[in-house]
Amino acid sequence: MLELRHITKVFRTREMETYAIDDVSLAVRKGEFVSIMGPSGCGKSTLLNIAGLLDEPTGGEIILDGQNVEELDDKGKASIRNSKIGFIFQSFHLISSLSIIDNVILPLTFRNGVSHSRSVQKAEALLEKVGLSHRMHHFPAQLSGGQCQRAAIARALVTDPEIILADEPTGNLDSRNSEEIMHLLETMNASGKTILMVTHSDEIARHTGRILMMTDGHISVSSKNASL
Ligand SMILES: Nc1ncnc2c1ncn2[C@@H]1O[C@H](COP(=O)(O)OP(=O)(O)OP(=O)(O)O)[C@@H](O)[C@H]1O
Ligand SMILES: [Mg+2]
Repeated sequence: MLELRHITKVFRTREMETYAIDDVSLAVRKGEFVSIMGPSGCGKSTLLNIAGLLDEPTGGEIILDGQNVEELDDKGKASIRNSKIGFIFQSFHLISSLSIIDNVILPLTFRNGVSHSRSVQKAEALLEKVGLSHRMHHFPAQLSGGQCQRAAIARALVTDPEIILADEPTGNLDSRNSEEIMHLLETMNASGKTILMVTHSDEIARHTGRILMMTDGHISVSSKNASL
């Protein structure tokens, strides 16, 4: 589903070069739920952003759903990003001036051929699934953190993406809300979605089928999750 081959990422400023990613190769198969763990600054977010085509690698190749992404121009990449990838962020990234349902609909407005009424229907069904039907006309500031993240999950799913990339999706949540979010992600995975997730927490990683450990820009250990 997603393959990274010899990815490197160097951030250059006038004073220094940072090798944020140093020759990382990995493959995530369709239907897998994989987590990436590792200390702060080891390159987890950078790697996820590269995998999600939000950031360009300095070197290496990305193969997404059989397509070598490096062969595409910016427009082609944007189109793949919008159709095949769903993002979930630690700080939700909801748009504060839009209602919850309008936030969920937003990714569909970049698509041709999806009518407004179809979009509304789809968003309503997803908000129902994440338990937010009663809050869909509220604004993000009127929701709790856990509710905002559930809205963000509905938004990530609205385009029916092939793969979900989640960067510390429970990082801003208490343990009860974290468990709820993980339960939702597990349900999504059980229904066939491929998920690659960054987390700091052993407890959260325990919900996933495979754990990759990162240190200093490379993957040091890749292990099947023994507790599953
Ligand atoms: N835009 C940037 N410019 C320069 N350096 C950057 C940039 N983004 C990240 N870095 C550096 O790249 C390295 C990896 O950063 P990254 O955000 O990927 O770490 P992380 O593992 O996600 O950390 P955390 O767990 O704290 O979120 C760090 O040393 C960071 O300072
Ligand atoms: Mg990070």
